[in-house]
Amino acid sequence: MIYPRRKFLKNTASILPIMVIASSCGETKQASAKKPIIVSTWDSGLPVNEVGWKILSSGGKAIDAVEKGANSIEDTINCCVGLGGNPDRDGYVTLDACIMDDQYNCGSVAYLQDIKYPISVARKVMELTPHVMLVGEGAKQFALANGFKEEDGKLSEVAQIEYEKWLKKSEYKPIINIEQTQSKNQNNQAAPAKLDNGDFNHDTMGIVALDGQGNLSGSCTTSGMGFKMHGRVGDSPLIGGGLYVDNEIGAATSSGQGEEVIRICGTHLVVEYMRMGKSPTDACKAAIERLVKINPEKAKTFQVGFLAINKSGEHGAFSIQPGFVYAVKDSDQDGYLVNSESYFKG
Ligand code: GLY
Repeated sequence: MIYPRRKFLKNTASILPIMVIASSCGETKQASAKKPIIVSTWDSGLPVNEVGWKILSSGGKAIDAVEKGANSIEDTINCCVGLGGNPDRDGYVTLDACIMDDQYNCGSVAYLQDIKYPISVARKVMELTPHVMLVGEGAKQFALANGFKEEDGKLSEVAQIEYEKWLKKSEYKPIINIEQTQSKNQNNQAAPAKLDNGDFNHDTMGIVALDGQGNLSGSCTTSGMGFKMHGRVGDSPLIGGGLYVDNEIGAATSSGQGEEVIRICGTHLVVEYMRMGKSPTDACKAAIERLVKINPEKAKTFQVGFLAINKSGEHGAFSIQPGFVYAVKDSDQDGYLVNSESYFKG
């Protein structure tokens, strides 16, 4: 599936006059934005937002927009989401995803194999079971019992190439901003990634939306860290890790090295900072600062980015390393990209 990719990259600095007003206490205060709005991680979020926007702009619910948006990338070949994504070190693609609505309802799947749309399985967990999270074989059996089809388990052509490259060295080495590297030659087609060192890494599609009724929802889906240990689960299926939604306050999602996000319950923390009155950008920044403080030297070696919107539809992000971008779509304009500010300046 090829989407139009109108790329209007806005550096945060370049949108400051429009969206961010400096306050006297040194923090940033964001001007009101409109609803509905949908924002998602990385430049691959542009076509994802278009799918969600069709739902939001016709009066649909945020929960449907974030599910269908996630499905649209789960259905493409890319490094980091869906069955076309990176395998683990034993050659299996295992998927993590979660979804959360405006009523604190949430559903999640982890270590799910051979099922194409993990976010929709997560939604079924939310809607049809008394549980929040199903994993592994149990999640797969639940999916099959609810109308999902078992796929053949073969690696995508791209992932097979990258796996064979990785097997030669068999080492895990994070590549910062891999999603962006990959999406440059992705165009939603199975174009092999050209990474200098042959390593292959991970990132995530996180989506948060505010619908015309003023309700928030979010989704987060990934194939996780490339060549992870078999059985490894990241932050993406964890409520409060890869995603958190509080309909009174705001919603946040994350991308990057999941272990680090889990350590601080990252997206829950971002929402709590918004509850304390911080703008989305400042809330994301405060969470990143909390993370860096744990081990500033180690923080130089990995990427984490948080993305948030609040109840007014203001949006913002902050990352450890430069290069984290997010995609925005609202009623004002075509979809565009925003460069996140970062803790380290490069
Ligand atoms: N943030 C995705 C992962 O760590 O798996």
